[in-house]
Amino acid sequence: MLKMREGELVVAGDPLETLLAWLDEAKVAGLPEPTAMTLATATRDGFPSARIVLFKGLSGSSMERRGLEFYTNYESRKSKQLEDNPQAALVFHWTTMRRQVRIEGRVEKVTPEESNQYFQSRARESQIGAWSSPQSKPIGSREELESLVRANQAKFASGLIPCPQFWGGWRLVPERIEFWEERPHRLHERKECRFANGAWHVQRLAP
Ligand SMILES: Cc1cc2nc3c(=O)[nH]c(=O)nc-3n(C[C@H](O)[C@H](O)[C@H](O)COP(=O)(O)O)c2cc1C
Repeated sequence: MLKMREGELVVAGDPLETLLAWLDEAKVAGLPEPTAMTLATATRDGFPSARIVLFKGLSGSSMERRGLEFYTNYESRKSKQLEDNPQAALVFHWTTMRRQVRIEGRVEKVTPEESNQYFQSRARESQIGAWSSPQSKPIGSREELESLVRANQAKFASGLIPCPQFWGGWRLVPERIEFWEERPHRLHERKECRFANGAWHVQRLAP
């Protein structure tokens, strides 16, 4: 069990480096699903919804800044909300590390080339799964889903499976990143990083 940390939480000049370091520590500690993050989206009218997706790495954006990538179905509920309202939030929570990171910003789609590159790195069964799941749509039965899988197994019996046009990556480019680390007596450490005028500005928040 991790001993409760003491002292100040220090954030790197580029807070994404601190995020990567914390992710590495969670991986080394053997936590289950260390890359799992809650993704919150909202409709155009501001109705929120949230679900878990997996963080797949940092990459450069059209804003010439790095952002967090995740992959999904572009026709899913989350993607429709992101199309309508590109403001989103992510939360990582590593329970036994006693750490939380909250990220807010704008999303954009990664390029089809980037999506295809990631798609090709996935297991064939997962590629078939992506082709077979009309994600977020009602589906009558498990059998219906399995028959879609069988049809795609037959369709893609050999050779490279192309990335579906309805599937790919989103990149969230952060405007705000908050690091939270547990301290004794609920006097936790919180550091808020905001991106403004081309630089990150850090301030302490009360727990
Ligand atoms: C640990 C975990 C990891 C997940 N990773 C992803 C993911 O990377 N991409 C994805 O589309 N769904 C992922 N899901 C499923 C989503 O939470 C969600 O059920 C799905 O994307 C449909 O959400 P939506 O209807 O709001 O679009 C994951 C679920 C869990 C519990």
